[in-house]
Amino acid sequence: MSVEYASQVDSVAEDSIVGDGAGGSDAVGSATVQSAPANASGYPSSLVGTSVVTLDDISTSQISELLHRAQYIDAHRKTVAHTCDGRVLATLFYEPSTRTRLSFETAMLRLGGQVIGFAGAQLSSVSKGESISDTLKTVSNYVDVVAIRHPKEGAALVASRAASVPVINAGDGGHMHPTQTLADLATLQSRFGRIQNLTVGLCGDLTFGRTVHSLIETLCRFGNVNFVLISPDELKTPQYVLDRINATPTCSYVEMSDLAEGIGDLDVLYMTRVQKERFFNEDDYLRLRDTYILDADKMRLAKPDMAVLHPLPRVNEIAVEVDDDPRAAYFEQVKNGMLMRMALESAVIGDELPGYEPLQQKEMRV
Ligand code: NCD
Repeated sequence: MSVEYASQVDSVAEDSIVGDGAGGSDAVGSATVQSAPANASGYPSSLVGTSVVTLDDISTSQISELLHRAQYIDAHRKTVAHTCDGRVLATLFYEPSTRTRLSFETAMLRLGGQVIGFAGAQLSSVSKGESISDTLKTVSNYVDVVAIRHPKEGAALVASRAASVPVINAGDGGHMHPTQTLADLATLQSRFGRIQNLTVGLCGDLTFGRTVHSLIETLCRFGNVNFVLISPDELKTPQYVLDRINATPTCSYVEMSDLAEGIGDLDVLYMTRVQKERFFNEDDYLRLRDTYILDADKMRLAKPDMAVLHPLPRVNEIAVEVDDDPRAAYFEQVKNGMLMRMALESAVIGDELPGYEPLQQKEMRV
């Protein structure tokens, strides 16, 4: 955990998060999640019962296993349709969402389970002043797994410590968004057949874009990636994320502000929205929001097999004309997000996919 993030979590604990981030009484430290014991490497030996606040919570072989699981799910949709019969997912969304919440929910429904939750804290007891911890201690009695999105960095960690069921972070402020990264990895895997040996450009709001932080963190663990970090000066990548790249001998980065200058070298261009909701000053947002617009002219400067990713929603940063370019992969990412969430939800609950052979066993047999 980075120093910067650690201090944020401490401040979350001290502030005692209430759902909307204003006062309350959370006790961080009463870890009750019944997860598998960690093995010698510090990772849980199985995903069953494991909370995923960041992908750093699980091993790279477990991430590879999830990618493999999602491929199996895609090819065997009917076979897996009752994997989670009788299970219930809670989606606790304290921040707006279209894709992520619907994707978590569709994933559970497609596995045969059911869904409860709220979208918007104003309709829950948060509006009465209930803390995240109390909400999680309550909801743990109802469900088998929780997906939570919250505007404060560290909220998902606080939630995971209070819950007695696995908690999946669906985005905590400008910090992390691990299941979006799973969707991104699946998209790279399907486009390139690998998630290593790539030059990956990330463009836009690299300060507040949590999907960027999660993706860089995870790609560094697999290694052999050159990052091209394209942003205006005001929206550069946070130091704790750069430190991660610096600490990875097989990875490197350059920072630049001109998309046209860097695009020709990229295998992947990961566009992001300027995160309006994280700005303190509306004028700054208005000044920066249209810094980058990827259009057909810029696409002409790119490699013929470059993949354009975007976690969505887009505002202006990708012109609609790019959607018809075969290099546009952002709607594929949406599909992969659902499949990866199916893989993760069933794995942390501990429900076996009928007929599925784990990657490790398969590799041992070959
Ligand atoms: C992203 C998020 O919420 O961080 N969206 C998503 O979950 N797919 C990106 C964004 O909102 O810009």
